[in-house]
Order: sequence, then C-alpha cells, then structure tokens
Amino acid sequence: MPLVTTKQMLLDAQKGNYAVGAFNVENMEMVMAVMEAAEELKSPVIMQTTPSTVKYAGLDFFLANVKAAAERASVPVAMHLDHGSSFELAMQAYRTGYTSIMIDGSHGSFEENIAVSKAVADACTPSGIPVEADDNPYTDPDQAVEFVKRTGITSLAVAIGTAHGVYKGEPKLDLDRLSEIREVVDIPLVLHGTSGVPDETVTECVNRGICKVNYATDLRIAFTKGVSEVFSENPDVIDPKKYNACGKERV
Ligand code: 13P
Repeated sequence: MPLVTTKQMLLDAQKGNYAVGAFNVENMEMVMAVMEAAEELKSPVIMQTTPSTVKYAGLDFFLANVKAAAERASVPVAMHLDHGSSFELAMQAYRTGYTSIMIDGSHGSFEENIAVSKAVADACTPSGIPVEADDNPYTDPDQAVEFVKRTGITSLAVAIGTAHGVYKGEPKLDLDRLSEIREVVDIPLVLHGTSGVPDETVTECVNRGICKVNYATDLRIAFTKGVSEVFSENPDVIDPKKYNACGKERV
C-alpha cells in the first residue's frame, strides 16, 4: 500500500494503549529487515532517517527505498524525518514526500524551540503531515502543555532520562514524570533512545502513555555484527549481497 502518515497510526496507538516501533534505517537491507519483521508481526511501522543519514545519500534515496517496501507491504508504513535539525531540512523532507516530520529545536532556548516547531507545524499540518517535536531538556509537565499549545505539533518527544546510543549500565527513567506529562498533554508521546532500555521498562513506558518508540543503535549493532560474522568466517567474500544479507538477518 502507499505510504501513510503517522497521524492516525499514533492516534490509534494512543487509543489502544500500545506503541508503534520507529526504526532508523541506514541502508536498503535495514529497510528490508524492518519491513519483514513488521509483516511477520502484522504491525504498522515507522521508518526514519536522521540528518546525518540523509546527508549520506539524500532524502529521495531513502524515501524511494521505504516507498518500495511500503508498496509491497500489507501493513501501514510511514516515513519520518528524525531529529530534523532546521526548518529548511524539515521543509525539504516535506517536499520530498516524507509522511511525518520531526523538528528538533531543543538545542535552542524554550522560545526559539517554540518558534521553529511552530513554523514547521504551520507549514506541514494543514496538508495532513504530522509534526513531532522535542521540548527536551525542559520536559516539565506544565512547560510541555505550553509547548504543545503554542506550537500546534501533533506528537511530543519526552525527556524522561533516555539517551541516544549505548548506555553504560541500566538507564534510570523518570516514569512518574512520564505519567504526569500524560495526564496533562493530550497528543501522542514519543520515547527516544529506546535501544538498550529493558523490554519490561519499555512496556511500562507504553502503559504510561508512550505511543512511539525509537530504535536506532540496536539496529546498527545488529547489522554490523552480521556483516562482521561473514568476514570473520570468510575474509575473501567479495559479494556485498552475502554480507549484507547476514546484516539484514541480524537486524
Ligand atoms: P537509540 O539509538 O538509543 O535507539 O535512539 C534512537 C532514537 O531515539 C532516534 O531518534
């Protein structure tokens, strides 16, 4: 089926008390792996790319891969810009055909973050393209309410103690803060930095209102392990299909 937006997907998740997996894809094999897993689980799925991934090959390249996967699929698939780093990049993704956009203005002041998030939401939401934003490091429930109200975003990434990349030790999440945010914010909530968070903690986050869970590092590790396995067994392999297939399998 054609790509869908994350709008209905996340509203359905919020209503049904579950979360949709959002996976960072960095090559064709990762797209294929995520698609196969989603089909197997009969689950809607979000694929996403960060600015650095986009810089490597272009928005159109990744969109084409995910679009092809979606068209063969029987489950809904959305293509999301992860951590859009500027208004310009968000607009490029929107024009290229991404069906969901994140703008991350969290490096600026609260007011700057509101201004850029609102500008992206104003540009995208009238045509049905949903916008996720991040009020990190401020996620205080009252500020979250103000942030959502003043920006018009459609989903909110919450800062409750997760971080991107590999954790040293088990991450300590502020679950009570999550519940407090859920009580006062009525749009779908997003958990970033989910790789390495124990599954039971992720489940608890979902029970407390998370509707989208982002995984990147776990996929990178799995893919690289798979490729390395092939080379350690046979360093003379020259067919990229051979080692990429093993990477895909591990993802
Ligand atoms: P991890 O790399 O920790 O899984 O984080 C992914 C993420 O949040 C992408 O936005």
